[in-house]
Amino acid sequence: MSIPAGLSDLIVHNSDFGLLVIDRYERVVVWNRWLAVHSGIAETTALGARLTDLWPEVSGTRAHGAIRDALHHGRAGFISHAFNPMPFPLRGLAGDRFGDPIDQLCLVRALDSDDGTRRCLIQIENISSAVRREKHLRGQIRELQETKTRLETQGRDLEEMARRLRTARDDAQRANRAKSEFLANMSHELRTPLNAIIGFSEMLESGYGGSLSERQASYTKDIHDSGQHLLQIINNVLDMSKVEAGQYQLFETAVDIRDVTRTALSIVGGQAADRGLIVETLLADDLPLVMADERTLRQILLNLLSNAVKFTNSGGVITISGGIDPAGDIAIHVRDTGIGIPEEAIGLVMEPFQQANGSFSREYDGTGLGLTISKNFVELHGGTLTIASEVDVGTTVTVLLPKSRVLDETSAGL
Ligand SMILES: Nc1ncnc2c1ncn2[C@@H]1O[C@H](COP(=O)(O)OP(=O)(O)OP(=O)(O)O)[C@@H](O)[C@H]1O
Ligand SMILES: [Mg+2]
Repeated sequence: MSIPAGLSDLIVHNSDFGLLVIDRYERVVVWNRWLAVHSGIAETTALGARLTDLWPEVSGTRAHGAIRDALHHGRAGFISHAFNPMPFPLRGLAGDRFGDPIDQLCLVRALDSDDGTRRCLIQIENISSAVRREKHLRGQIRELQETKTRLETQGRDLEEMARRLRTARDDAQRANRAKSEFLANMSHELRTPLNAIIGFSEMLESGYGGSLSERQASYTKDIHDSGQHLLQIINNVLDMSKVEAGQYQLFETAVDIRDVTRTALSIVGGQAADRGLIVETLLADDLPLVMADERTLRQILLNLLSNAVKFTNSGGVITISGGIDPAGDIAIHVRDTGIGIPEEAIGLVMEPFQQANGSFSREYDGTGLGLTISKNFVELHGGTLTIASEVDVGTTVTVLLPKSRVLDETSAGL
């Protein structure tokens, strides 16, 4: 069945790809509308003209070779886009004007008619958008590969950094352990002769080795006091290093804060009286028992009270108060009417070996460890230690123990 001529014309001119037929002299026989639109050459101009006259730039190209192959040897072929992306000077449309050159995929075939003449059919497809998409995809793939490479490098860097941090941490832990062991050993080594010094000076003082002259007794007392002072420092340093190494163990029992306060006062009370200070205790009647390490709690109060005594001048007042605050926590305040701490030094004095007046003089003795240790001890109990102070007015140190440490009457077995 042959297609009626009118219909085949319709098909040829309405197809959305280029259809070009040329005879063996390379003269145009068919030039469809698509070609006219994309080449800018009207069908009437094209028909009968030689292809290389219409498009001189095609002469001698691969595309030209493929056409000749079809015309002279009857070989079909296609013009590879990879080698020849734009074989013919065709352009896309941008509105009513020419746009960019278009990427083409061309099929070339020989058409042999019954009368023995041979023609060449060239079918040209616009593949610009597919090429653009592919280019875009290739771009994305390249970016993804670059990202992957970058992430792999970063991953390796991070692993290396983690390895170095682990090594540094291990080194630090080893050094810290060595420091703690050294301090523990040193403290032990120092305490043994120190106990002998304290013990023998006590014996001398008590007249056990014979009566002493007034001057000898005074020297002996100095030896004894200095020994005690040194022992206190050694104990503080040891406690500090234990807390820092995370090795300080709390021995928790039900503790009565009133008892602890009484014991602490019995130790510093004499000193307070010697310095002409008034000490008041204002503990709430309903002060409950708390779950705490008694020795540690006593040490905290002792440190705070000895500071209050040390930094308050004659005639001053020291007050210890305590009770349950509105949040249900236990609050203990040690207040004095002493010299106070300058505002800018309040943070500093809680650091180890720091003293507010350290830069001026050695008027007050001490190592600057009492507050640091007390703060650490309170924090081991899950509490907080804060300081409020005003120079020449006084200082209040507040210890808060969390309400989880409060024992009600039933749990305290009362
Ligand atoms: N109640 C206070 N009034 C005024 N200043 C204080 C008071 N308590 C502490 N300070 C200041 O904080 C500093 C640090 O106190 P901390 O108890 O840590 O050390 P220290 O008393 O000097 O020595 P240590 O307690 O080790 O014998 C003190 O040197 C002092 O300057
Ligand atoms: Mg102190």
